[in-house]
Amino acid sequence: MSEAPHGAPIKTPGQLIAAVIAGFAVPIVIIVLLAVYVDNSTRTGAGTDSLSEAEVAARIHPLAQVEIRDANAPRVYKTGEEVYKAVCSACHASGAAGAPKFTNTADWAPRIAQGFDTLWHTALSGKGAMPPRGGTSPDDYSDFEIARAVVYMANNSGASFPEPAQPAAGAAAASGAAAASGAAAAGASDAGAAQAAAAMAAMANVPQTPTPAAGGAQSADASQAGKALYQSVCQACHAAGVLNAPKFGDKEAWAPRLKDSMDTVYNYALHGKGAMPPKGGSNASDADVKAAVDYMVSAVK
Ligand code: HEC
Ligand code: HEC
Repeated sequence: MSEAPHGAPIKTPGQLIAAVIAGFAVPIVIIVLLAVYVDNSTRTGAGTDSLSEAEVAARIHPLAQVEIRDANAPRVYKTGEEVYKAVCSACHASGAAGAPKFTNTADWAPRIAQGFDTLWHTALSGKGAMPPRGGTSPDDYSDFEIARAVVYMANNSGASFPEPAQPAAGAAAASGAAAASGAAAAGASDAGAAQAAAAMAAMANVPQTPTPAAGGAQSADASQAGKALYQSVCQACHAAGVLNAPKFGDKEAWAPRLKDSMDTVYNYALHGKGAMPPKGGSNASDADVKAAVDYMVSAVK
């Protein structure tokens, strides 16, 4: 009798034991090797730095962040070049939207001919496709920093404007005294002159014919009228604190003033105080000016 062609390969108890041991051992060895392979951190292929601290920090970086600024910290002004690179270059580097191109003297010559003050004013208030302050807020870039950016751009494009004078460092600290002595004192010092120039630029924005109050406006529209007047007139100084005007929404700046009765505060707004011109230099109605005061005061309550 020959052996069956499909006989079992295991014939002896020894072979059986060997097969059983191999049945366990082989998968275990494979698993161990896989585990070592997966955990191997010394590989240096593309993407293996995805667990590095910097990479992880970048991935779990919060989407929105609050930047806390110390209002009392001494202000560090950006240079014209920094402002230009951060803001103005968006349009002026390429000449987008018809902006005069950086270093293109032909683009700039007719504009430079208008003089620095006009250019500065235009940069602050906007012109055609040029947004006011290049689209930034006065909190981010002061008038002085915008002035520096104008000088930087113009001087690289054929002009030789002098560097604008820096506002006095102590100006904000001395607000009470300086503001109280008003425009006269402000005009006296160099720093004051810079501030006064800033105010002139601001004042030039003030439309002389704001929308007149609708006669007998009800109090519902009063707050609207106040907001509108603030936006068209008062914010020229009060948004950025030009000439040490108490800043809109700045509780600290307003608190000492609001110790006076509202009648006194209205009176200052109507008839002026220090560097604050009567009615902010507008010819708005008394009711509208009071409404604007209410609007400003409500922002610091
Ligand atoms: C969104 C695009 C844009 C940005 C950002 C921008 N500008 Fe302009 N700028 C323009 C355009 C467009 C003009 C031409 C306006 C015109 O002549 O009608 C212009 C013109 C000017 C002029 C010449 C004004 C004149 O009287 O002829 C100055 C100065 C100026 N910009 C300064 C700045 C400064 C400073 C910044 C940055 C803080 C800035 N711009 C950011 C688009 C921009
Ligand atoms: C040209 C810049 C300028 C404009 C425009 C301006 N203000 Fe003022 N304002 C000031 C300054 C500067 C002070 C601080 C005066 C001081 O304390 O000596 C001030 C102070 C005030 C105060 C506080 C007065 C107090 O001490 O109680 C009120 C209220 C006020 N302004 C309302 C307004 C209103 C309303 C408008 C718009 C109709 C306006 N201002 C427009 C510069 C301005």
